[in-house]
Amino acid sequence: MRNPTPSKTEIRGKVHKPLIHDSAIKQVSGEADYIDDISEPKDLLHLYVAQSEKAHADLVELDVTDVKTADGVVAVFTAADVPGVNDASPVLGDDPVFAEDIVEYVGQSLFVVAAESIEQARRAAKRAKVVYNEKPAILTVDQAMQAGSFVLPTRQLKRGAPELKREQADRRLSGRLEIGGQDHFYLEGHISLATPREDGDVHIHCSTQHPTEVQHNVAKFLNVPDHSVTVEIRRMGGGFGGKETQGAWFAAMAALVATRTGRPAKLRLDRDDDMIMTGKRHDFVVDYDVSFNTNGVVQAVEFVFASRCGRSADLSAAINDRTIFHADNCYYFEDISIISHRCKTHTVSNTAFRGFGGPQGMVAVERMMDAIAHDLGKDPLEVRKANLYGKNERNVTPYHMTVEDNIAPEIIAELAEKSNYSARREEIREFNKNSPYLKKGLSLTPVKFGISFTTTFLNQAGALLHVYTDGSVMLNHGGTEMGQGLFVKVAQVVAEELQIDIERVKITATTTDKVPNTSATAASSGSDMNGKAAQAAARTIKERLIEFAAEHFKVAQSAIQFMPNRILIGDKKTLTFAELVQLAYLNRVSLSSTGYYRTPKIHYDAENYSGRPFYYFAYGAAVSEAVVDILTGENKITRVDIIHDTGKSLNPTVDLGQIEGAFIQGMGWLTTEELFFDDKGNLKTHAPSTYKIPACSDRPDIFNMALFENAENVEDSIHKSKAVGEPPFMLAISAFNALTEAVSSVSDYTLFPELDAPATPERILKSVRKMQTGVTTDRSAAE
Ligand code: MTE
Ligand code: HPA
Repeated sequence: MRNPTPSKTEIRGKVHKPLIHDSAIKQVSGEADYIDDISEPKDLLHLYVAQSEKAHADLVELDVTDVKTADGVVAVFTAADVPGVNDASPVLGDDPVFAEDIVEYVGQSLFVVAAESIEQARRAAKRAKVVYNEKPAILTVDQAMQAGSFVLPTRQLKRGAPELKREQADRRLSGRLEIGGQDHFYLEGHISLATPREDGDVHIHCSTQHPTEVQHNVAKFLNVPDHSVTVEIRRMGGGFGGKETQGAWFAAMAALVATRTGRPAKLRLDRDDDMIMTGKRHDFVVDYDVSFNTNGVVQAVEFVFASRCGRSADLSAAINDRTIFHADNCYYFEDISIISHRCKTHTVSNTAFRGFGGPQGMVAVERMMDAIAHDLGKDPLEVRKANLYGKNERNVTPYHMTVEDNIAPEIIAELAEKSNYSARREEIREFNKNSPYLKKGLSLTPVKFGISFTTTFLNQAGALLHVYTDGSVMLNHGGTEMGQGLFVKVAQVVAEELQIDIERVKITATTTDKVPNTSATAASSGSDMNGKAAQAAARTIKERLIEFAAEHFKVAQSAIQFMPNRILIGDKKTLTFAELVQLAYLNRVSLSSTGYYRTPKIHYDAENYSGRPFYYFAYGAAVSEAVVDILTGENKITRVDIIHDTGKSLNPTVDLGQIEGAFIQGMGWLTTEELFFDDKGNLKTHAPSTYKIPACSDRPDIFNMALFENAENVEDSIHKSKAVGEPPFMLAISAFNALTEAVSSVSDYTLFPELDAPATPERILKSVRKMQTGVTTDRSAAE
């Protein structure tokens, strides 16, 4: 018999370990199944969605007679064929699946064609007779502001009396910044495969971050109960927020075809259609007006944010609220006003995207910090430090949440030292003096990001765990895998709880018939919430096993110990996990359990922007170095140093991958990814030929990333870890600011460059020209 006493060197624990992503090998070898890889049934119908060619028009006539008679066409459905509610929106009921009598953006769905092949469906769609009565279209934020066109009422958060404090300040300046949107550019576009089941039920494989919302929207659309619709997703080829709401439109169409024709139906958007038809990150225009003393400490600040929401609300209320919640970033502003306009435009409805409005708020405040430093001739890092939240004072956010876990000052100090910030800043200034065409810039920016859905009720999760009699475990939870490593993290939590090897835990597809009423995998809280729910399920089973073993072997419950792959029964007996499970089964102990979790402590009065919307904050900081060719505007981020806080990381390898990916995605947003709509509302950048995401060669040559050590979440999060999905995205603001700094050197730092995001070579070149001709900053006037 093995010695039941564990050796001191025995490695306990599956969490906090750099385990490989469960799909990694399969993804590299091509064995990982995505929806389009599922073997096609021979009676599969292929769907194509016909789109509006006008940005704003009455739909005078939609005649699909000739479409129906085209080769290979089996069915055509328009709004008139919807048995239930023609809507698949997340909140307000304002997203018709098919246009009815009005179209409000180029790309809006008119009808769906089901044919034997995708080519036939696509060709047939062109035969429709569509008569529009075109109306004036509002396309930009400026046009919407002028027309007073909003999807939601304007909101304001105000603390103190900025208008009075301004009078007492030494300096005042104002500026305007335009911040572009961003396409999600997930590798797998939107796709749904619907299969009819008996009794009019339907099963849908849908690439979605929110299976429950797809289920509910499809049921409402088909006019059937929720239990008639099952939505399943094993993994997405990326989501990044773009699959939080809008996948429901395509799932609804596929489900309609499947239930009406009795044949399975697949709708897969190609890249161009995906980019044209689905929403993106909100672009913003931001005005700031800031007053400060000669040390750079802000005395009063006023922000006016205006975002392009597109034709419907989608998640714009929560997204713009998050902008408000992050316009402070790491800084204490006692007297502050933030106004947020949510503009309605005749463009696709913008939606969730990593950071969910937070990045736009933070870009604005970080630019403002640079503007202040410039005005005072100070190092921007000194100005940032002078404004940071304190530990025990100056630590209440404008929305009245106390910052209890502020580690930003430590992270900044450590990063400044490790990256050699001060010395490099001097070296770069020297370099710029002697380099006529290549100019360098350096910037350090911090991140504080609130973790929780700001819609409080969404902060709940469920899991389902089965233990089979051979000791193998089946894990299911409400979270979805989109590449972020959620499934391996939750499996680690279960393996840890039961002290079994992770290979024993089968990671299964997310499906609404196993765990119901789930929230989207979003707000970075996937592993926090589903980890806790799965842990609760595992604990229930473990407690049952302990109770049973104690009774069976006649020992105290405290004498039963779960050790790696074995269970100690007092000091005499050892069983393997499988042996105990088998014995428990024979003695009629239930080996299956659900688990449930709801985030504690959070409460929030949305009307007054007051309370604790976030369970905790995740922090980080980055230093970026940029080089700009002032003859062409070409540029590169050459070196990046990051320290990021993931608490006591559940999986350091996965977390470092998230940090790297998020930074690069953020860098793409702020430097090269430019969405261009023409004056008719056509998106002209709808493929990688015209829309430039970062390539391998854009990765900084030196890229030093580290997790903040000694970090442990002060809250009772899953194994003291912190969420990592979104926060590091905003580290890339340092890249944008480094470019600004490089451009500023052209004027020998006397002028603060006008530079909007993304800082494309064209914009940089224009900004350089203005530096050379002596044109001043933004629209700003320092007093
Ligand atoms: N990482 C990959 N590889 N692919 C993705 O689509 N989405 C991001 C982030 N990391 C994403 C990703 C977004 S927008 C969020 S909100 C989180 O992952 C969601 O997952 P989590 O809550 O499990 O961190
Ligand atoms: N973050 C991300 N997604 C969301 C949120 C949020 O706060 N609220 C609703 N969906």
